[in-house]
Amino acid sequence: SMIKDLYGLSEYETKLQEILNVKRVIVAPGQSAMSDLDKKELGRTAASLLLSVLSEDDIVAVTGGSTVAMMAEMMNSGSSLYPSVLFVPARGGLGENVELQASHIAARCASKLGAQYRMFHVSDFLGAAAYEMLQKDPYIREMLTLIRSAKIVVHGIGQAMEMAIRRKAPDEILTILKNGNAVGEAFGYYFDQDGNIVYRMETMGLQLEQIKSARVVVGLAGGAGKAKAIDAIAKSGLMDVLIMDESAAKGILALY
Ligand code: BG6
Repeated sequence: SMIKDLYGLSEYETKLQEILNVKRVIVAPGQSAMSDLDKKELGRTAASLLLSVLSEDDIVAVTGGSTVAMMAEMMNSGSSLYPSVLFVPARGGLGENVELQASHIAARCASKLGAQYRMFHVSDFLGAAAYEMLQKDPYIREMLTLIRSAKIVVHGIGQAMEMAIRRKAPDEILTILKNGNAVGEAFGYYFDQDGNIVYRMETMGLQLEQIKSARVVVGLAGGAGKAKAIDAIAKSGLMDVLIMDESAAKGILALY
């Protein structure tokens, strides 16, 4: 658009598409980590991208986090309703506060679009035995089938250590992340600078291999502090669309 060209944002998008090897990069103006208005703009950008790829009967899996939560808040489909679309959380509890939980965000998206939603609350720290038993439960199996058939996945991206601490990870896990040089995190998976998995949280829901069968995988993040994290997740080759703010874009370009 003209506004984007004025600020040179489309130039960032083209450069980042080449460097990061992601088909489509979208850069929203501003610094979302510093300004609430800019974070809203990032959320609005993600919401309109989601609407542009959404089809009837789609299952949409969303993660938690404040950025995806902002996408839900900024969702506005005018008078169009999506009664055949189903929103689900990408994974069971990952240790977030309620407003940042994926189930809560799925419900918010659905209420904004007149769509359906299902919640999926599984305790964050299950022992192996409980975990195995739950996998046999008919309700859990049905939910897992729905989640794994998601056609669209929208996930946040976090800095590895910051996310581990936010989720109150025990010291052993912090040590694994440090020793493995984890820099980025997405839906419970922690990645090093080359996009290799350093650690994954044991929770039910979408596993990394399964997101590959989605039609569109959207990564969403902002802030200069997330540049390395976004770069790491991009290297893992998961995303079809990557949406970030201007400060993250500048931060990533400065890495190269
Ligand atoms: C989490 C997602 O809930 O939010 C993660 O599962 C992501 O994938 C994180 O890293 C990002 O949170 P925020 O608040 O920085 O958008």
